[in-house]
Amino acid sequence: MNTMVVYDSLYGNTEKVAQAIAGAMPPFGAVRALRVGEANLTALESTDLLIVGSPTHGGRATPAIQEFINKIPAGGLKTVRVIAFDTRISAEDKGIGLRFLMRLLGYAAGRIANRLRAKGGSLAAPPAGFIVEGKEGPLKEGELERATAWAVRIIGQQEHALVAQQGEP
Ligand SMILES: Cc1cc2nc3c(=O)[nH]c(=O)nc-3n(C[C@H](O)[C@H](O)[C@H](O)COP(=O)(O)O)c2cc1C
Repeated sequence: MNTMVVYDSLYGNTEKVAQAIAGAMPPFGAVRALRVGEANLTALESTDLLIVGSPTHGGRATPAIQEFINKIPAGGLKTVRVIAFDTRISAEDKGIGLRFLMRLLGYAAGRIANRLRAKGGSLAAPPAGFIVEGKEGPLKEGELERATAWAVRIIGQQEHALVAQQGEP
């Protein structure tokens, strides 16, 4: 199974999560983690699983991630399973006004997932968010481990699905 992790990162936190996800790939698969500027659309042709991650900026993915997805031709992800993640600030310790605003704005991962599906991708797992302590991070304690465990679980599920699919007559 070929997996491509495409991410953007301003302060390095989303990059750490992307690397943890790529590092969780079992030895029998091929995985590439690419910063969004390095990601090449033709590589999508040989990709089984596309994982896209972005910091949440104003409730959305960064412009570079949005542009990357926009450039994928219509139906270009028809044979690709897709997963989205983001990094975000926890609303828990914020005042009621800011909590309300953050809920109103939402987070990047859900929007990324919707856009990938609109290009034909089939969603392989619900969008996930990983918490940073402040705008510049660091990641909240335990989040990298959670990202690794999340990736091991979903990548394992994809392997099983792919083997089952290929085994069909
Ligand atoms: C311009 C800007 C807007 C942001 N907007 C949000 C937001 O709407 N919701 C949120 O949870 N975090 C927001 N953040 C915090 C980011 O989630 C945080 O900077 C990011 O997760 C760090 O990831 P990075 O190190 O990969 O850049 C914002 C940060 C910046 C710089």
